[in-house]
Amino acid sequence: MFHSKYVLPLVAMAGLTLGTPARAEGTVEVLHWWTSGGEAKAVGELKKSFEATGGTWIDSPIAGGGGDAAMTALRARVVAGNPPTAVQLKGPGIQEWAQQGALNDVQAVAEAEGWDAVLPPALAGIMKYEGQYVAAPVNIHRVDWIWANPEALAKAGVEAMPTTWEEFNAAADKLQAAGIVPLAHGGQPWQDATVFEDVVLGVGGAEFFRKALVELDQDALTSDTMVAAFDQLRKMRGYVDPNFSGRDWNLATAMVMRGEAGFQIMGDWAKGEFLAAGKVPGKDFLCAPTPGNGFVLNSDSFTFFKVEGDENLTGQKVLASLIMSPDFQKTFNLAKGSIPARTDVPLDDFDDCAKRSHADLVKAIESDALVPSMAHEMAVPRSVRGEFLDLVTEFFNSDMSSQDAVEKLAAAVKRAM
Ligand code: GAL
Repeated sequence: MFHSKYVLPLVAMAGLTLGTPARAEGTVEVLHWWTSGGEAKAVGELKKSFEATGGTWIDSPIAGGGGDAAMTALRARVVAGNPPTAVQLKGPGIQEWAQQGALNDVQAVAEAEGWDAVLPPALAGIMKYEGQYVAAPVNIHRVDWIWANPEALAKAGVEAMPTTWEEFNAAADKLQAAGIVPLAHGGQPWQDATVFEDVVLGVGGAEFFRKALVELDQDALTSDTMVAAFDQLRKMRGYVDPNFSGRDWNLATAMVMRGEAGFQIMGDWAKGEFLAAGKVPGKDFLCAPTPGNGFVLNSDSFTFFKVEGDENLTGQKVLASLIMSPDFQKTFNLAKGSIPARTDVPLDDFDDCAKRSHADLVKAIESDALVPSMAHEMAVPRSVRGEFLDLVTEFFNSDMSSQDAVEKLAAAVKRAM
């Protein structure tokens, strides 16, 4: 179905004629970190669609939620002079690789297809380097979500999803008293940072989030508000089970599915996991934004590394076009748990969590409460993000005071800037 509308103009654009030999549609080697149940299903849709154009897909998955292992592998490949054709990358990471001259642009595809008209300007800006598209976005993920098992909540006498951190703590206390793990969590730095940034949003609001986690303002980082955020994080440390250390995020999601745990705080890739396991939103699991009236944005996108050969260059263009096609954006995001990056894809077939995500996104844009995720590499350079992750994880795994935490964090961020 992608042939006629999207792919053929590209084949022509790449200087190929329709009679060219087999596999003129290109080859891509795709480096990504989508290996959990929901993630694999979603990337499987991309592979299937690409192969349907006649292209050859070489899969290079690097396991590890949040993509830290994938980024290490990428660096090694580039240093060895052998970059993959297409790489899942985001935020400032896109800019960093573009600055190093490592990326091919896909501006011709973007112009031919009018990407500017169908992407939210904030997202389009992230995809461009020096005014040219160097990345194609597949989705909009929301990071500030709580997932819950309704039966576990009922057993513990929790009547509604929490809307403030006080309510969250009260519900967690009830779950604990009922012998249910209140918070399913995996002790990996990016997961600790995910919970942390959602708490910062809830405790401080969007304006504070932006000052502290995006602009890296020293006053915000050392403020009483930040101390209060660490206090809440300390409280949450008491709600995880003893085996949380090193656990993968999808295994934490499985604890909620089984009713072993009441809540998980995680982006909506967790919904992809529930859906892949056949769970029904609103019935088998619940979703609600974490307390705070904002929206923590995380968008996955693919970049196109400098490779040679017509076959590879064609593959890059075909993949870019495919990723941005409305049909693909719908199919992919139904599996991934996110919503389309394109603003013109109808959400009728999406569930209520996705519809809520979209409605809250629009509201957040209007009220200037849309903030980029620090934990998911949308906000600050990797070096600065690394400092946040180290400190938050150290705090979570020690008895460091909140006051010490803000001082150490502010100093570490200053050093890394
Ligand atoms: C995020 C990524 C999501 C999801 C998650 C867990 O950084 O944006 O697509 O895969 O990591 O791996």
